[in-house]
Amino acid sequence: MSYQPKRKIIIDTDPGVDDAFAIVTALKYQGFEVVGITTVAGNKGLDYVTKNALKLVGLLNADCMVYQGAHAALKDLDKPVDQSKDAGNTHGFDGLGGIKLPYDLSRLSEQSAVDYILATVEQYPNEVEIMALGPLTNIALAIQTEPELMKKVKTIWSMGGGVYRGNVTPVAEFNYWFDAESAQITYSIGQDVDIYMFGLDVTYQTYFTANDFFFIKQEGGELGRHFYDMVQDYADSYWKNRRITGAVIHDLVPVIYAIDPTISNPEDVYHCAVSVSCEPGLVHGQTVVDLVDRHNYLKNSYVVINADDRKFKEVFMEIVFGEVADLYKKYVVS
Ligand code: BDR
Ligand code: CA
Repeated sequence: MSYQPKRKIIIDTDPGVDDAFAIVTALKYQGFEVVGITTVAGNKGLDYVTKNALKLVGLLNADCMVYQGAHAALKDLDKPVDQSKDAGNTHGFDGLGGIKLPYDLSRLSEQSAVDYILATVEQYPNEVEIMALGPLTNIALAIQTEPELMKKVKTIWSMGGGVYRGNVTPVAEFNYWFDAESAQITYSIGQDVDIYMFGLDVTYQTYFTANDFFFIKQEGGELGRHFYDMVQDYADSYWKNRRITGAVIHDLVPVIYAIDPTISNPEDVYHCAVSVSCEPGLVHGQTVVDLVDRHNYLKNSYVVINADDRKFKEVFMEIVFGEVADLYKKYVVS
């Protein structure tokens, strides 16, 4: 068997229940070396999300450090931050559904997220893949600091945006709405770096049903029970706000696709132009995606708009729960 070097992954994240599913999967996948986890304010204030990242590193006993990043969106970095003004209670009061997990502060680096990203890209040019699961503030700051160096990132896998739908406004998705300027700056390097956009069009197709969560609790051992407990507030909000019995685990989609792109048909991946609206009001954070490609706009992204939900969840079950995935395939109806 030929030796395959592990892919070098930085996870940039605001955990977040769906971030937690994604982080655990990336840490468990043998083909990835998660070299560091960088945090960014989004679902909750920076203190919460950093603590949550540390909890997940501790839970998996992972050999990587956590690097604290931006405490607010780019345009608000100079303003005092009101930590109580966060993204509400969708992810529970603490961002992880209130589950009790210890964390070890010795895993928190003194280096900032932006310095860490830049140093890692410099050390491994054209090798580093960034799994961007929250607002893109750290990435934009890194681009503003060292634009040429950031063109040596291999791939940015970004959960955000949507071709046909939003979740904060009718047209804007949370991560890009939270920091539209940073999203737009990130897409400015899209001709040099492969940027994959996983918007709400594809994430809504892959939602976990109540049956899926039941299975995870029954057969997933301790980790499965943590997932189950963690997801309760989050799933409640899907029922109350959208009448979905289950929940969309948005941030897991880029991770699973990066592991197994056959979850999507190649025809459902568009190499095209993406622009993010920084205008105030309803359109703030909207992604304008030129799927039709009649206008010769410069192509700066690969936009994934469909995925096979069953295959997506089977890959997740295999990576995270091993052989138990066979029971899932045999008995659980999605
Ligand atoms: C995105 O917003 C956050 O609430 C989730 O963690 C995900 O990254 C979905 O719109
Ligand atoms: Ca997130």
